[in-house]
Amino acid sequence: MPEPVSPVQAALSERFGERLKIGAGLSGLDELARIAAHRVHRNFLAREIAPDLLRLLCACALSAPSKSDLQQGDILILREKATIHAIADLLPEMPWLRETPVFLVFLANGRRLPQISQMRGKPFPNDHLDLFFNATVDAAIVMTTFLRAAEAAGLGCCPISVIRDHAAKVSDLLALPPKVVPVAGMCVGWPAEEGGITPRLSLDTTVHEERFHENDLAGEIDAYDRRRAALRPYRNQRETERFGRADFYGWSEDKARQYATPLRADFGAFVRAKGFHLD
Ligand SMILES: Cc1cc2nc3c(=O)[nH]c(=O)nc-3n(C[C@H](O)[C@H](O)[C@H](O)COP(=O)(O)O)c2cc1C
Repeated sequence: MPEPVSPVQAALSERFGERLKIGAGLSGLDELARIAAHRVHRNFLAREIAPDLLRLLCACALSAPSKSDLQQGDILILREKATIHAIADLLPEMPWLRETPVFLVFLANGRRLPQISQMRGKPFPNDHLDLFFNATVDAAIVMTTFLRAAEAAGLGCCPISVIRDHAAKVSDLLALPPKVVPVAGMCVGWPAEEGGITPRLSLDTTVHEERFHENDLAGEIDAYDRRRAALRPYRNQRETERFGRADFYGWSEDKARQYATPLRADFGAFVRAKGFHLD
């Protein structure tokens, strides 16, 4: 008789097209099931999120590991409709931003550490790319941990990196000082619908054993395109006037079209203008 499929296996099989083995007696299956079944949410109920809950989730998020315990990821909470709408106005292609009850902005804070060095009367000979990189990584980890915590509490989230298309305007709107930059925003709310699992590249493509390998990338990508299209076909094709209409329109065609146009080419200039040195 075939083994029954656990919720973790069901979600991961939809995600990766592979039935993963789960050792008998493994603990934490509830948490693994939630992680495996992750999906972003872009439609929310008109229901507030209690401030205490939001604070609790921020505390959980900021419990994440931090590079050298430097704690360079910050969270900015936006509840005021006027500010959320001012950001939403910059991004009419993402109407879910306008409807979100709460909008968070995860910040790379490369400011506090040099301020602390100054407070302690010490030199700070580390104002180079690594300061920006460490702060960005910390902010991204805080963001992911927030998402995990929020999903555990039944909330839905959608990270929003397109705020960086308008980085300078968002920075002004939020009064971000030098050496503090937005990594991503995040819509957070009570989900209005369940949403579906998005298939990912196969584990053979993205998990490397002992050394990096890239065996048959074209074959792997093609197989992924087809597996994904069977479960979550694209409804629209990008830029048909430029690239024509593809008979088969998969993930790789979509991503290649998306990145055939310069995106956020001014972001380096913005980061430098905010006082980070990227050398
Ligand atoms: C750093 C980051 C930035 C993202 N930015 C956006 C965004 O600007 N707008 C949006 O609608 N979704 C955004 N997303 C959501 C992704 O589109 C989504 O995670 C992806 O399609 C996979 O879907 P899933 O998370 O449900 O598996 C972002 C996700 C991440 C991790």
